[in-house]
Amino acid sequence: MSTTTDSYRGALEAVDRIVNREQEADDVLRKTVEVLHDRFDHYSWVGIYLVEGDDLVLGPWKGPQATEHVRIPIGEGICGAAAASGVTEIVDDVNADDRYLACFVSTRSEIVVPIAYEGSVVGEIDIDSDVPAAFRPEDRELLERVALLISPHCLVGWDRPSQWAEQVGGSPEAP
Ligand code: SME
Repeated sequence: MSTTTDSYRGALEAVDRIVNREQEADDVLRKTVEVLHDRFDHYSWVGIYLVEGDDLVLGPWKGPQATEHVRIPIGEGICGAAAASGVTEIVDDVNADDRYLACFVSTRSEIVVPIAYEGSVVGEIDIDSDVPAAFRPEDRELLERVALLISPHCLVGWDRPSQWAEQVGGSPEAP
């Protein structure tokens, strides 16, 4: 799918519908990950990490492979940097960034968008792309809006993220 303005608007509307329809936080987060992964070719791997104490713990994810980084201390890696600062990180060339924690050999660029609730970072959206410098201002804008929409649903799962880390495939549709 080519990424037109309509693609971004359509994805935001789809997430808005999910947030309004779904009762369970787990369903909101899982379906949001699916929408983002399935609607944008340059979103090769999409995951949500949730803050648990001083760590980020992997929640729902969708992509070709599982990551070994299911728990990342806040402050480590690109994920940990975004959680520590509360500011979106866009890395055009992951191999040129010393902070980068490698997950997949095919990854070329990455965006990490913090999810804040009442001023505290409670999670983040992490997207790896196989395309160099894949993330543009429209991606940042979309994902920061998605983060706002799903933020209330990142609180009730605080005692549950480990369940996601164990789950092979990350989502029921994944192989
Ligand atoms: N690359 C991330 C680690 C998470 S994987 O991309 C899924 C980082 O540097 O923090």
